[in-house]
Amino acid sequence: MASSFFVACVALASSCLFLLHSRSVSGWLESGATWYDLHQGAGTGGGACGYQGDMEKPPFSSMITAAGPSIFKDGKGCGACYQVKCTGNAACFGRPVTVVVTDERPGGEACLAEAAHFNLSGKAFDAMAKPGQADNLRDAGNIRVQYDRVPCKWRGLDIAFRVKAGSNPNYLAVLIDNESGDGDLSAVELQQRGGSWALMQELLGAVWKYNSMSALRAPISIRLTSSSGKKLVASNVIPSGWQADKTYRSIVNY
Ligand SMILES: *[C@@H]1O[C@H](CO)[C@@H](O)[C@H](O)[C@H]1NC(C)=O
Ligand SMILES: *[C@@H]1O[C@H](CO)[C@@H](O)[C@H](O)[C@H]1NC(C)=O
Repeated sequence: MASSFFVACVALASSCLFLLHSRSVSGWLESGATWYDLHQGAGTGGGACGYQGDMEKPPFSSMITAAGPSIFKDGKGCGACYQVKCTGNAACFGRPVTVVVTDERPGGEACLAEAAHFNLSGKAFDAMAKPGQADNLRDAGNIRVQYDRVPCKWRGLDIAFRVKAGSNPNYLAVLIDNESGDGDLSAVELQQRGGSWALMQELLGAVWKYNSMSALRAPISIRLTSSSGKKLVASNVIPSGWQADKTYRSIVNY
């Protein structure tokens, strides 16, 4: 009795230790980091994820990053949140900053050779520096950082669908934004009035499209699958009489 209790304790304790251990090793990973744009800047243009005009505004608030292939994942990584911190330079503050993937890191052979690379907005890069030392950190160029995937916490926001210009009665393209949790999407489906679920195709980054042989029957529901496989339905989120360039807010989020 006593010995079997002891064995159970040991088994339990070692599995707990294993959990603690695997948690810490799967935590921070190494990557390179550079910066773009001015101090406090968010960068320019829409970025390869298609979040035009949303980058400076909450919830992103310019705390954004372009990322190399292992993080951008051909656009499937758009919207995911990461903590990034630097420790290897005297100007580093050491505190992690949280950024959202909004773009693909353009060019740069040296960086492509790295397993992971973040090209951070000016604002995010500067936030890794000690107060008043942002210029010193910038002078260091391509710095070493640690990063960790974290859930996006967009408290109080519901998932928004912006119908993109170019959509027409037979063709719908929507930018999907403000997902909490995983932040990124692995699949999107739509359901027309009275119809069954049909897969949408990724047009670019966070923009998904559907081409129909005949006029789409609204209202249209949209079902999301996040990168960890969680499904969520925004029922009838695209109303009848929908228009291009309009945003339709759901009442759901992860
Ligand atoms: C970072 O982004 C800027 C702006 O797009 C670009 O000019 C620069 O080459 C990028 N740096 C790296 C290392 O990719
Ligand atoms: C996401 O939420 C923010 C804050 O409410 C809003 O400014 C932004 O436009 C939303 N995104 C879309 C695509 O509507």
